[in-house]
Parts: sequence; C-alpha cells; structure tokens
Amino acid sequence: MNPKYYITTPIYFPSDKLHIGHSYTTVVCDAMARYKRMRGFDVFYLTGTDEHGLKIEAIAKQNGVSPKEYVDKIVESIKELWKTMDISYDRYIRTTDDYHVESVQKIFKKLYDKGEIYKGAYEGHYCKPCESFWTQSQLKEGNCPDCARPVEKAKEEAYFFRLSNYTQRILDLYKANPEFLQPQSRMNEMINNFLAPGLEDLCVSRTSSTWGVPVTFDPGHVVYVWVDALSNYITALGYENDAFGDFERYWPADLHMMAKEIIRFHAIIWPALLMALELPLPKQVYGHGWLLFGGDKMSKSKGNVVDPVILCNRYGVDAVRYFLLREVPFGQDGNFTNEALITRINADLANDLGNLLSRTVAMVEKYFGGTLPVQRQVGDEDKELIEMASALQKIVEGQIDALQLPSALTEIFRFISRANKYIDQTQPWILGKDEAQASRLASVLYNLLESIRVAAVLLSPFLPGTCPKIFEQIGAGEEVRNWESAGQFGLLSPTATVCKGDTLFPRIDMKEELAQLEAMSAPPAPAATPTTKVEGVAELVDIADFAKISLMVAKITHCDRVPKSDKLLRIELDDGQGGRQVVSGIAQWYAPEDLIGKKLILVANLKPAKLRGVESQGMILAADVGESGEARVIFADDDLPCGAKVR
Ligand code: MSP
Repeated sequence: MNPKYYITTPIYFPSDKLHIGHSYTTVVCDAMARYKRMRGFDVFYLTGTDEHGLKIEAIAKQNGVSPKEYVDKIVESIKELWKTMDISYDRYIRTTDDYHVESVQKIFKKLYDKGEIYKGAYEGHYCKPCESFWTQSQLKEGNCPDCARPVEKAKEEAYFFRLSNYTQRILDLYKANPEFLQPQSRMNEMINNFLAPGLEDLCVSRTSSTWGVPVTFDPGHVVYVWVDALSNYITALGYENDAFGDFERYWPADLHMMAKEIIRFHAIIWPALLMALELPLPKQVYGHGWLLFGGDKMSKSKGNVVDPVILCNRYGVDAVRYFLLREVPFGQDGNFTNEALITRINADLANDLGNLLSRTVAMVEKYFGGTLPVQRQVGDEDKELIEMASALQKIVEGQIDALQLPSALTEIFRFISRANKYIDQTQPWILGKDEAQASRLASVLYNLLESIRVAAVLLSPFLPGTCPKIFEQIGAGEEVRNWESAGQFGLLSPTATVCKGDTLFPRIDMKEELAQLEAMSAPPAPAATPTTKVEGVAELVDIADFAKISLMVAKITHCDRVPKSDKLLRIELDDGQGGRQVVSGIAQWYAPEDLIGKKLILVANLKPAKLRGVESQGMILAADVGESGEARVIFADDDLPCGAKVR
C-alpha cells in the first residue's frame, strides 16, 4: 500500500475579504499535495471554513441575515476562489456541518468525563452593549476592543481545559521531536513566551454567544471557537462521527501548515488536547511568514491589487501561483508588490520558460516539419546540459521535502536558463543552413525538447494548468509526464511531433500595467463630482469596475442547437484553459457550421447559469444590428491566441 500523506490548511474565517495573503497557505499546501501525489503517496488534502463565533454573529446581524445565511454565501465564494486557483483539496470541512458539530460535542464530553475539562468561573471585563467578555490583554486602552466603550469587571460560569498540566509534556515533545514545530525560530518563540512562564488553564466555553457548538450537558454554554476549529483536523476524517471512515487511514496529520500568528494554537493547545484525548500527535506544524503589502500585514482594504480573483484574471492562475511559491523565502515574511509580480512573470515565465518552449518548438517545425529524424549526432556541448537535467530531479525532491519550495523553483529555473544558454552555444540557426549538419541539429533540438520535458514534469505541482500545455506542444505522451520520468534524460519519443500552441505567458508592459493598476486602486470619486454623460452610453463606471470583468479570446470548437429551443446554440470553446461551453441566443442568425473554427470574445468570469437545462459558463460578445433585435457575434482576429486577455 502507498504511504499516506495528510496535509491541512487552517480553516478560514468566512470573509468576503480574502486577499492574496490568505491564498498563500492554500497554494503552498496545494503544491505539496500535488507533489506527494506525483510521488505515489496516498494524499489527503483538507481545507475548509471556521464559521462560528461572536464576530460572524455580529457581521451577520449587521447584514440583516442569520449567521448561517451569511456563512453559506461566503463559503460559496471561497470555494469558487479555490476553484479559480486550481486548489486540489480532497475535502472541504465547514464547522457548521452536522457531523462536525456532533463530533465536537462528543470530544468536549469525553474531555469532561476524563476530568480534563472542569467547570469554573471566567473573570474578565464585560461590555454590556456588545454582550462580550474580554480579558485584560484584549482590551484597547482599557475599553472594549470592538466598540471602544467602557467595560466592567464581571464573572461568568465557564468550562476550563487543564492546559496547565501540559507544560512539561509539550516541552518534552519539542525536545524529542525538533521537527514537530518548524521553522526553528517558532519553537523558540513558543518556549520563551508561553512554556517557560508555565501554561494556564484555558477557558473553553462561552455563554456570551449562541452561534457555536452547544455543550450538550449544560445548555447556554457553547464550545470555545478554537476548540471547535482545531477539532476539524480529526472530525473531517470521521473521528467520533459516521460521516467518514478515514481516521485510521490518515491520522496523524503529516503537516499542519499555517502562517505564524496562529502557531500557538497549533503547537501548544492542539497537541495538549490530543494528548488529553490520548490520540497520536501530528508529525509537523509549520508556521510560514506573512505576505506583506507595503511593509504591513495585508488586508483587503488595500484595494483591488491584492484581490486574488482580480490578479488571477489579469495574469493567469499559474502566474500568481508561481509568484507566491517563488518570491517569498519560505518561513520568512515577504513583500507583495505589483512590480515584483510583473517582473517575475516577465523574467521567469515569459522570457525564460516561455521563450525556451516557443523557440524550440518553432525550430523543430521550421527545420524538420515538426518531427525530428532518428539520426542523431552527439556533441561536446551536450554533456553539461544532460548531466544537469539528470541531476535535477533529486535536487528538487530534496528542496521540496524540506519545504523549501522557492529553492526548488530556483533550481528548476536555473536549469531552464542553462537550456536557453545551450541554444546560444549550439546556434541551431547556423546548423540549419548546412544540410550536412542535419543530424547534429536534430540532436540539439531533441536535447532541448527533453530538457523542457524534464523541467515541465518537475514544475507540474507548481504550475498545474501550464505544464499539460507544455507537454502538448512538445508532443510528450502521458507515459513521460510522471514524476519518475524526470529522473531519466532521453525518454521523450525520438519521433515525437511538436505542435505550436498559444504563448504560455504573454509579456506584460510594466509601465502600462502599473498605470492601470494605479487607476484601479484610486479612491472612488467623491459623490459630489458630476458624472459626465456620454450620448447613448449607460452610466459611467470606473476602471476598477471594468477590471472585475474578465474578457478573453476563445475559439469555437463545436456548436449545436439546444434541443427544443429555436433561439439557443450550445457552443464549445477553446479558452486556452481546458475548454468550456456557453449557451447563446443567436440561433436565428447563425447556423452551427458557420461558427466552428471562428474566434470571438468571451466574458469568462460570469457566474454559470442554466438555459433550458444546459449550463452556460460565460457569455460571448455580440453587437446589435439597428433596432430590430438582430445581433452579430464580434469575431476576433484569427492570429490572437486562445485565452488571450482582452483589455
Ligand atoms: N480560522 C483561523 C484558523 C483556524 S485553524 C483551526 C484563521 N483563519 S484566517 O482566515 O484568519 O487565516 C487563514 C490562513 O491565512 C492562516 O494560515 C493565516 O495565518 C493565513 N494568512 C492570513 N493573512 C496572511 C498573510 N498576509 N500572509 C500569509 N498568510 C496569511 O486564522
């Protein structure tokens, strides 16, 4: 049986303000999960949402909806975001799921029955208008941190977990397993700040909120959100519930990944709770750094430039993933700037990787009509490139296994640069002028195709949307796309046929792009500013609104009529991202056969809708012909690649 690998992100607070910093943890875990799957592990990747607590209750109230209605809506948008970002999670847990609630209740009762939880009194500061308890350290200048009004000392009945009993056991755990908490600096922080002074018992129930998991044996109390939330890592596998039967198979977790501010909960409270439940402990807790914006912790209030959906629409998902995985030294804080993102895209993805592929494929087509001859002639310049390619897989594995994903990418791109240099050294364009050099030229181009294949295999966990397109272009079949195949140079079929495709990563004009981004983040014009009316045009919108719409070039690959409708056509499109279908009301003016092969403009981020029971994943642009209601599709130039952004 394959070894298992259980990896988790923290469960996210349901906020419609998820920013690019939030997606950092998820993208890192996704790359790890994909890598382990490629290496043959039986992977289980868990993510989800942390939906209880006073804050959610309060926001829902502000929005005039129930907490459940509020979280249901947000969870949909979070799932949509992970879909956009190609996140390959295996299960999505919501703390409002019935099975989770049931398990948490049983866990709480179990701890109580074992004497690990006892009833006591919680002394703190009470804010009457907010009906909230606060500890001394939570107060802001002595007042309620939410409404800034004065608080009064108060006592509330509450349950406590005997965390103080676990100080030494956690210290022993760290000592016996230095790998348990990484990077090392986080362990020092936990020891110095919390363990050395000694742990205090932890208040694990509240009576100030009803939006939580009720304590079964004491109505009026709900379970403290962190106990509720941390339990997700085992309830999602089926611990103390019948919904799933994966606990034996996957627990203990191999890796709990998160940013540094929630390490204390995972590296102290969570192992103590597990010890109390007599369950095995996770193998590793990793606290990565923060993605900063302008030197500060990120927040969506910084504007559209940190909105992951907008960034993915503008640059493509893999470009954003690449930036996150490559730019920040893992474990440390790193700055997000639009300049850095665009520089990475242009330098690494468009220039180094994109050019290597497009130059090589173009040369195989130009000199050999797309398929290399079998006769080859080895040259002195080949040795270094082939040696580097053959050694790369082991180096990359070492880096990824040590969670040094940026270093793994650095190594792969060092090799890509070396392959570009090989083109300059071997000068295929000179070889191409001399018939007698045909077998040498074939060798050079084969070595390049093979280098691209090896790099693409190793890049697959990081750039899951791009690598299949690379394999298509170089004619690499399924059998030479798997992880093992990257360890051997020369596996690409000698008669593989290349197929030129769309540009992987179009170059971005830095100046123009930055100007557009700046316009997008400009504060909205003051209400008093008169709006200019343009004849025949609807209300003016600012560029930030326009930027929310993703327009792209797509090609019609198939088209047929929607049954029982004389208006609708079902159109299959190549959008450069794996294809999709849209339904369009143009059947009166176009026959399906007139459309196949044409390129048009697709509104790519429209919410899917069903028309006559057929799902439409977007909309195509058409223009009115006079007042008659007749419309004409706006066709795009045939030279434009599928997936090209329209702006
Ligand atoms: N709900 C808790 C976790 C409970 S787990 C049992 C929580 N949620 S969160 O939505 O605030 O954060 C989710 C993840 O995003 C965490 O790993 C958090 O540390 C991470 N990040 C939030 N802002 C971040 C950056 N600016 N940069 C990197 N990671 C960031 O905490």
